[in-house]
Amino acid sequence: MSDPKQNSSNGTNEPEAAKRKGEAYFTDQGMWGFVHRSFTKSMGFTEEDIAKPVIGICNTFSELNKCHSHFNELVDYVKRGVWQAGGLPMEFPTISIGEPYVKPTTMLLRNLMAMDTEEMLKAHPLDGVVLIGGCDKTVPAQLMAAASANVPAIVLTGGPMLNGRLNGRSLGACTDCYQFTLEHKAGNITDEELSTAENAICRSDGHCMVMGTASTMASIAEAIGMALPGCAAIPAPDSRRRHIAERTGKQIVSLVQNNIRPRDIMTEQALENAIRVTMASGGSTNAIIHLVAIAGRLGMKLPLEKFDEISAETPFILNLRPSGKYQMEEYFEAGGVPALMKELESMLHGDCLTVTGKTVTENLVGARVLDRDVIYPVDQPLDRQGGIAVLRGNLSPNGALIKQTAVSPHLKKHRGKAVVFESPADLERRIDDPELDVDETSVLVLKNAGPKGAPAMPEIGQLPIPKKLLRQGVRDMVRISDARISGTSYGALIVHVAPEAAIGGPLALVQSGDEIELDIAERRLNLLVDDAELARRRESWQAPAPFYDRGYGLLYIDRVLQADQGCDFDFLLPKELRGQV
Ligand code: FES
Ligand code: MG
Repeated sequence: MSDPKQNSSNGTNEPEAAKRKGEAYFTDQGMWGFVHRSFTKSMGFTEEDIAKPVIGICNTFSELNKCHSHFNELVDYVKRGVWQAGGLPMEFPTISIGEPYVKPTTMLLRNLMAMDTEEMLKAHPLDGVVLIGGCDKTVPAQLMAAASANVPAIVLTGGPMLNGRLNGRSLGACTDCYQFTLEHKAGNITDEELSTAENAICRSDGHCMVMGTASTMASIAEAIGMALPGCAAIPAPDSRRRHIAERTGKQIVSLVQNNIRPRDIMTEQALENAIRVTMASGGSTNAIIHLVAIAGRLGMKLPLEKFDEISAETPFILNLRPSGKYQMEEYFEAGGVPALMKELESMLHGDCLTVTGKTVTENLVGARVLDRDVIYPVDQPLDRQGGIAVLRGNLSPNGALIKQTAVSPHLKKHRGKAVVFESPADLERRIDDPELDVDETSVLVLKNAGPKGAPAMPEIGQLPIPKKLLRQGVRDMVRISDARISGTSYGALIVHVAPEAAIGGPLALVQSGDEIELDIAERRLNLLVDDAELARRRESWQAPAPFYDRGYGLLYIDRVLQADQGCDFDFLLPKELRGQV
């Protein structure tokens, strides 16, 4: 059964201006008002309940998503807060995307989740919503949806896992997942030691606890003003996460009462605050794609240069893995995102409005850094510049990214011969071939792993070091691709090369033996092959066969934008921005 006219009294698809959306549904005098009331009352809600602001609680619990396995409990605390503040909580699901299981990659489903969430928000009588997310793609999808639907919203992240513990050592997912499998492959640890590590690394509810994509996006939700201060770093099993869930439930009712909406909060200045916090934190490169996509939904262009500009003038001050030493648990104890923002305060736009109903400056009153080995002072930073650099040159005319804080120092300026893999499958087939012509100065190049090519840019930009070099002790090499990397990766990894190989970007023309030059300080990435030769190669280039011929996959490769444009679907941008980003 569906209501063809949401508001039968004014004959439009919009609720009457003076009424809340929920109110318009439940006070309607026609047949549909009768239906809305009777069907809602059948769930045990009373006349008194349906007079309250209707607060959706987007519960992305799923046993297919480990990082969200504790969300049903969190929802109970949110509901408690909503009831306390005089709202009517109504829980609903959307798809949920967990990194470990989804094939070929969660990025394929981010836009689907954003669409699912947006349409749920628009189609129902919700006056406000609490969006509960955690694993990498879920928070960006929810922020994209909130930006488009513009219904009053607060993001509640599920919190990081506690630190893994093994032999007195602190373990982090998934930076150590790579480390352990690498050392196992190199023959340095036994099967049994690997299994012990598996049992020790993820010992609680929550998302990955290094400064990977999930922690980066949780920090961004806070820095952009869409989550309550302090939310990002509270460990998932800590009782204080329940407390903040309850406060989030209370606060969303206040946002509805004051009609504060995502577009009042996520302004250009708020996006700049989010970028600055990301750079100061050594945040994930994935955040750039997500922030560009969020900005697009808000009708704003966010060129890669903006990230480089802010990165260049923002000190890197957060000593968290994979770029530093600690993990989210220590970040929480050091004061979390509010403490980091307090340290950066002079560089932030302090007058941005947030979901507290107050400004950034007001929120930061009383915030302070509690551990100087975790959050460094801005005048004595870990690095003078932020984590991410944008590289341009004839190999990446529309940009490529490198997380410079995770690069081995000797590779920051490098020249070497390309060893080319034509596709992810080719890489898998040949990387460990003993005959592969490669040494530690080689530059590993992977093609056809971009938005349309792979598809959806799987996190395979951390190309494995060939086994024979691993055995010689090589642990880092320059690696280039149009893929993404996990926020937990480390090494000299150049990713997001745009345009991608599958649409004929210059990456498609690289051949084994070509010389490639990287200079991070100069922001340069060049293929040292002359233009005439490149033109000759282009003439014989053929696009790879598309990965899908039906369904959502076909829609994806047909409509997805390039990495520098946020990988959203072109038709999800506001009309005035289409064809421009
Ligand atoms: Fe969900 Fe890492 S697997 S955050
Ligand atoms: Mg990840």
